[in-house]
Amino acid sequence: MEKYCLDDEIKIKEQFSVRCPKFDISANWITDNALICAHADLAGKPKGEALELCCGTGQVGCALKTKGWAVKGLDICDSMVEVSSRYFPVLQGRVEKIPFETSRFPLVVCRQAFHFLNIQEALREIARVLAPRGVFVLSLTVPFSGEDSKWLYEIHRIKQPLLKKFYTTQDLIRALKEAKFSIIKIKNLKVRESVTRWMKYAPELTRQTREKVIAAVKNAPEPYKRLHNVEVRGKEVLEDWNWVILKTAFRKI
Ligand SMILES: C[S@@+](CC[C@H](N)C(=O)[O-])C[C@H]1O[C@@H](n2cnc3c(N)ncnc32)[C@H](O)[C@@H]1O
Repeated sequence: MEKYCLDDEIKIKEQFSVRCPKFDISANWITDNALICAHADLAGKPKGEALELCCGTGQVGCALKTKGWAVKGLDICDSMVEVSSRYFPVLQGRVEKIPFETSRFPLVVCRQAFHFLNIQEALREIARVLAPRGVFVLSLTVPFSGEDSKWLYEIHRIKQPLLKKFYTTQDLIRALKEAKFSIIKIKNLKVRESVTRWMKYAPELTRQTREKVIAAVKNAPEPYKRLHNVEVRGKEVLEDWNWVILKTAFRKI
């Protein structure tokens, strides 16, 4: 079982506060319309309040708000809270200790953050704040298959030293089921990314690490290159990322 670590919390806050000013342009997925709409569609018809966990700059929350949800947000990083608070009310805090009442939200969403969390504590807290018959929508970038899994893990380990765990779709499903969540729907989506741009806007990394990430994609094994459709266009390196979006529910007795 993973334990809460204050040092990790400080590092995450530092990392996201330096990334915050250019966060929205640092990768295509952040503002990708199809990806954001997939979250909003899986959330279903608006039924009152929605909580966006690890909301960052609030992109998913904004789409939910447009659909008619009354959105609240939570993020650990003050700079992110400052940005997303322009669009809906956001509290600073940790998913492992959500500062909201039990059974409050018919909808909880969390995009691209589970790899930073203590998942057992996070899922316990999500189950607590979900209203009866509430829905939890969770998403993450994952390998396409067993063929690219090992190499993608290597890339993520170089890029993100704060990675708590590397998830495949199966790992996520297992963790959700262990925490007594049922899977209602699974959707996969590809988003084309520029690895060079992603690295350009990662000021928390040294130049050496940024170059290492680009080289890892450029020189990936053939199965990885095929699945990710890796393309070198002059100095730019492009590839596809595989997203999984899970619509889940937690049965309250
Ligand atoms: C990769 S960003 C994703 C932002 C947003 N979910 C999105 O999809 O645009 C991860 C976010 O998770 C936040 N975060 C990381 N660990 C957290 C924790 N334990 N509790 C709350 N927020 C956390 C970071 O501050 C950051 O804003």
